[in-house]
Amino acid sequence: MRTQVGIIGAGPAGLLLSHLLHLEGIESIVIERKTREEIEGTIKAGVLEQWVVDLLRETGVGERMMREGTFHGGIELRFNRKGHRIPIEELTDGKRVTIYAQHEVLKDLIAARLQAGGQIIFNVGDVTLHNIDTSAPKIRFRQDKIGEFQEISCDFIAGCDGYHGPSRSYIPNRKEYLKMYPFGWLGILTEAPVSAPELVYTNHERGFALLSTRTPWIQRYYIQVDPNDNLSNWSDDRIWTELHARVETTDGFQLTDGPIFQKNIVAMRSFVCETMQYGRLFIAGDAAHTVPPTGAKGLNLAAADVLKLSQGLVQYYETGKTDRLNGYSEACLRRVWRAEHFSWFMTTMLHPDPTQSQLEKKLQLAQLEYTVSSRAAATSLAENYVGMPIDW
Ligand code: PHB
Repeated sequence: MRTQVGIIGAGPAGLLLSHLLHLEGIESIVIERKTREEIEGTIKAGVLEQWVVDLLRETGVGERMMREGTFHGGIELRFNRKGHRIPIEELTDGKRVTIYAQHEVLKDLIAARLQAGGQIIFNVGDVTLHNIDTSAPKIRFRQDKIGEFQEISCDFIAGCDGYHGPSRSYIPNRKEYLKMYPFGWLGILTEAPVSAPELVYTNHERGFALLSTRTPWIQRYYIQVDPNDNLSNWSDDRIWTELHARVETTDGFQLTDGPIFQKNIVAMRSFVCETMQYGRLFIAGDAAHTVPPTGAKGLNLAAADVLKLSQGLVQYYETGKTDRLNGYSEACLRRVWRAEHFSWFMTTMLHPDPTQSQLEKKLQLAQLEYTVSSRAAATSLAENYVGMPIDW
């Protein structure tokens, strides 16, 4: 097989890149380890920055998002059993919080690519990269994980294969920065009506809790748990007891429960790989950096990477110039580190850490108190939450 850009991974980074390149007349082939059903059925987080919403709309894949997404003008921070609204829209000149799950974005992108004749090869295994320091790199893989080895010859390779994917390991002399947090999130989907008008991020002495939503009838809730805990320890009853205890307020907030139809536990890490490129290989999204979900930045950072990568590739194919491609990693990392800091800031402010001292607990509350009572502090949170300008 031969294409211009070989893309490893059909997550937000890989699929959006393929879509953006197609609109510029650049061909790509996407290969993916999972099946289409697995990708479309894996429940993921779902907050989109305003510029991502605008980009999806402008490039023709935003129609269902605008119909089925949820749009909020603020978020709530809750601590000491009281809620405090951060009026995001007002503090950011009208930018809103869009809740539309990542796997729904993926469904829309997959449908758009396939309809445009794009090639996505699902369920591949044994992926290796070759000749990335030449102008004719290759990707080898096995269809259905057992078949004959196949090869894609291309001009460039985009490694969009997530934190556990193979691409990153092909960048020699890279430096990796990693922090694992001593907690994870247990997430549920429940068939229940909305209990709060906007997302609620709660710091409670029993642990963090987050109330999010999917539709007026389906809610997405999270509680902080030990990252090594097992779902089998969490009966529905125990989950509801914890959620009720953590989000309770002195003015009688009522959380409505319902049947739970999905549960999972995710670990929390902050991770950055410097640099994000070597020769004809460019890595993007979680392959290059991971954030804890408290800042709601994961998909948005992936989108920013591939928008920049697509601009570099367009410049190369239109003019033969490589300065944008050469500057790819540097252009991405500024935004990446901003989002890494914000995600770490939200995470450390909102999660009681089992190893933290009494002094650190007091500092957390002091930071929360400042964030909700100073317009400057709230504006800073809001600016980061809706996303820095794309050229930041
Ligand atoms: C979600 O709805 O899944 C969600 C919302 C906000 C976050 C993380 C996840 O910070």
